[in-house]
Amino acid sequence: MKKFVALLGILLLGGSMVFASGSQQGSGTGGGAPLIGIAMPETHVERWQKDGADLKAFAEAKGYRAVVTYGDADQSKQNQQIQDMLTKGAKLLIIGNINEGVISVVADAAREKVPVIAYDRLILGSGDYEYYITFDNFKVGVLQGKALEKALNLASATKDKPKIITLFAGSPTDNNSKMFFDGAMSVLKPYVEKGVLQIVGPAPLSSADTANFTRITTENWRADIAKARMENLLNNDAKNVVLDGILAPNDTLARAIIEACSSDAKYAGGKLPVVTGQDGELASIKYIKDGKQYMTVFKDTRMLAKAAIELADAILKGQTPNIPGARLDTTTYNTGKKAVKSYLLEPVEVTKENYKKIMIDSGYYKASDIE
Ligand code: BGC
Repeated sequence: MKKFVALLGILLLGGSMVFASGSQQGSGTGGGAPLIGIAMPETHVERWQKDGADLKAFAEAKGYRAVVTYGDADQSKQNQQIQDMLTKGAKLLIIGNINEGVISVVADAAREKVPVIAYDRLILGSGDYEYYITFDNFKVGVLQGKALEKALNLASATKDKPKIITLFAGSPTDNNSKMFFDGAMSVLKPYVEKGVLQIVGPAPLSSADTANFTRITTENWRADIAKARMENLLNNDAKNVVLDGILAPNDTLARAIIEACSSDAKYAGGKLPVVTGQDGELASIKYIKDGKQYMTVFKDTRMLAKAAIELADAILKGQTPNIPGARLDTTTYNTGKKAVKSYLLEPVEVTKENYKKIMIDSGYYKASDIE
């Protein structure tokens, strides 16, 4: 009898295990659900940790398994992480890459018929993937340029008393850096040409001026590099002028630049230049509230992550993607091998006037995070 009870127990347990794994498949977190590999570039810029966490959560909510890795701004490390995902049987990859060195693993994925979605950053030099999802990167730059235009009142500036700015761009290996910069310069260039806006330091008017553009870029978006460059400017090209504004491409670099300016006597006592930013990082929202940073461009990672998983789901199910809130653009983004189908979301400007509405009422931060 005891034996029979034990046997019954084993059968029931076995049965429930089968049921459990079956139901897990259905709910999507179990061993049998298709695996999505999510490779994020770095953690030293805050947003990517949110992207990673949101992508995983949305993937699991749709019934997939998901693995997230961070490449620490090291492409060989990220390539290894992506290889591991392929070995584990990933059925689709979502990649925010570091540089063009990623194309070898994108080619490996294509050989194994594993689709790749380029996430936020275009993967250049590859013809081995079809889809890109991002925010409208040119528009990000336009919002930064327009913020300087408004804060410096460029429309009323004169040749006798031109406004003075200096320029920073993101990583030279990140295609977005060019898009942001060209968007900003589409607004600022006419004022430079009219002589009412003066640039100190290297002065590319578009990223096509490669030599000068390279001089304003910031390798791997590193804050220490931007800070050192700003200190250098303050001791050289910007020594005998008072800067009215600084084009900073994201919040991490904006705060490093502000830190450098804060130790210069000219800008002490709250007379900092107007500094732009991007990402809506918590520390920058506090700076905006305190009047140290003028603006940021918010790109809601929850929306991008959700849209990317909608796209992944459609691709894996062989359906035509229909991504709410995203604009399909089939011409702008060319990898150098082909134009990829790009889904673009809308970025939003955040200043002292609207940060509560955009960053807190939307639930991105809690009021207590900022106070
Ligand atoms: C992203 C920005 C980010 C930067 C540094 C860019 O590709 O679009 O949101 O600030 O990388 O990580």
